[in-house]
Amino acid sequence: MVKVIPRTTKVLERLAAKNTPIYRTLSLYYKKLVREEVTLANIQATDKVLCIGGGPCPFSGILLHEYTGAHVTIIDNDECCVCIAKGLIEKLGYSDSITVLHSDGNNISPEDYSVIHMAVQVSPMEKVFCHLRQGCRMGAKILVRLPKKTLSNLYSINDLSVFQSCSGKAVHSWRNVDSTALFIKS
Ligand SMILES: C[S@@+](CC[C@H](N)C(=O)[O-])C[C@H]1O[C@@H](n2cnc3c(N)ncnc32)[C@H](O)[C@@H]1O
Repeated sequence: MVKVIPRTTKVLERLAAKNTPIYRTLSLYYKKLVREEVTLANIQATDKVLCIGGGPCPFSGILLHEYTGAHVTIIDNDECCVCIAKGLIEKLGYSDSITVLHSDGNNISPEDYSVIHMAVQVSPMEKVFCHLRQGCRMGAKILVRLPKKTLSNLYSINDLSVFQSCSGKAVHSWRNVDSTALFIKS
């Protein structure tokens, strides 16, 4: 049950990465969400952004770059997703501005990045978040997408209270994502 939403998302994203009308339609879901996140973290062109969990069609990483001009590095621990996402980034002509790597959020060194973005499907959410918060540089901003309470059993989050002490929050309506929490390393 826990993996139903992440698996469905991957299937839809595989289709989107290969089909422009599906890509355009699904990207509508992310546009307002990402705009609100850009505002929340005040992301600038000079930021170095790391996205954890891009999937085969990394909408969030792509929109973060398009809305801010910042360089974005996207990682995923599924080799097949990375391969499809690399092809899409090349097709979109973003190879100089967006890098896609096969890596796990639990192993990546976060100190080179000023903004870190975590997808709601990241697993295990609390462990990856603690690893990133511990290793990132002072002043770095971490954005964590959190599911609606009623849906949290469909994601890899056991303890939402870990994310309560955030510096700010963007609340999203009409989505499986309840809010994005902002943490600033101090
Ligand atoms: C399907 S995507 C959804 C994100 C969406 N495409 C976006 O742009 O916001 C979520 C991805 O997170 C990846 N993932 C989950 N846990 C991870 C982890 N610990 N490290 C890296 N990737 C992870 C999964 O393999 C999956 O492909």
